Amino acid sequence: MMYFIYSGMFFERSLYGDLLELGKFRVLEHERNAMIIETERDFIKEHDKKPSMFVHGMFRMDVSDDIDEGRYVDSLYDMVRRLKLPKGKKIRIECYNVNSKKGLSAKQIEMELSDRLRKDGYNPEMISPDVLLYLVLVNMRCYAGIESYRKLEQKFLNPLRHYGSETGERMVSRAEAKLLEAFDVFRIKGKGIAIDLGAAPGGWSMVLAKKGYKVVAIDNADLEYEKIEGQRLSTKVLTNLKKTKKTDINEMLRNVDIVHIRENANTAFQKISLKGVTMIADDMNIEPEQSAQLLMDYLGFAKKGAHLVMTVKCISKRVSKHVSKAEGILGPRFRIKSVKELPNNRQEVTLFARLV
Ligand SMILES: C[S@@+](CC[C@H](N)C(=O)[O-])C[C@H]1O[C@@H](n2cnc3c(N)ncnc32)[C@H](O)[C@@H]1O
Repeated sequence: MMYFIYSGMFFERSLYGDLLELGKFRVLEHERNAMIIETERDFIKEHDKKPSMFVHGMFRMDVSDDIDEGRYVDSLYDMVRRLKLPKGKKIRIECYNVNSKKGLSAKQIEMELSDRLRKDGYNPEMISPDVLLYLVLVNMRCYAGIESYRKLEQKFLNPLRHYGSETGERMVSRAEAKLLEAFDVFRIKGKGIAIDLGAAPGGWSMVLAKKGYKVVAIDNADLEYEKIEGQRLSTKVLTNLKKTKKTDINEMLRNVDIVHIRENANTAFQKISLKGVTMIADDMNIEPEQSAQLLMDYLGFAKKGAHLVMTVKCISKRVSKHVSKAEGILGPRFRIKSVKELPNNRQEVTLFARLV
């Protein structure tokens, strides 16, 4: 069986190690963070049993052939016709042009092939497709496969959804996409009170509030209050809190969506009283061990079963070392459910856990 597998840019070496966990394989093509491999095993099944940290997408490729330079698009279409294409179903074509030697972009190829399919009585359609037809062009060779769109969507983060462009102008920060992905990938459903550590400029806080959580945002930098309030969410900023008289945050959350404590987490926790937190979101840009330890020191605010979404910032490429250090610190109180590199992670992975 042949598979097209890719990870994020920073993690190409880690991807290789991840795949070895699934079984033996032979690399047919390898370009940066994308690989075509051949294996005896059903890697999709293996990956279902043991989801890997770095795989962004894994597609079974059904056919492959050299591209005829003189009949470029025609030779691609010949290969497409070798797949079992369903008539009457909506087919979306996705082309990954890894290192094209020819001037056509992936988009142009998709359009050309869609035209040919339409002429031959098929139904190429971008919106709500039934099946995804994918082509990978690498080193003048083409690999192609077809799969139920829903099946792919359930297994991997929808490769066609770009949270950034979805939220567009209304975004407060690029980081928002990371949290939306985490909710999707880890299938988080929750409500109640969320604490957002390292909250500025406020993307995660806004996402959480829009999902219905009451949010306690902690960061000594400002949030984008205007943008957040433009989303019909109310905010309140607290500064100069005193250690001597703890401020009751639960009381404040009755009347406001996001309470921002403009302090570092290290000091903020000593000045507030807060309980019943059901979601801990941690995107602080500090070393993972420090971040994990800080959480462990102040867990009294959280409820049993609370979700934790934490970005583990990898200051070096030794990703597993950073992850296992954070896991080691969190281990006594959290059940780690998954650690995954999400498409919008940059030099970091996202850890998902539950408080026990
Ligand atoms: C990547 S940004 C967070 C982006 C945010 N999640 C969003 O969606 O807008 C990291 C933040 O961590 C904050 N930070 C770093 N150390 C911190 C600490 N000890 N306590 C609280 N915030 C901290 C920084 O001020 C910075 O705003």
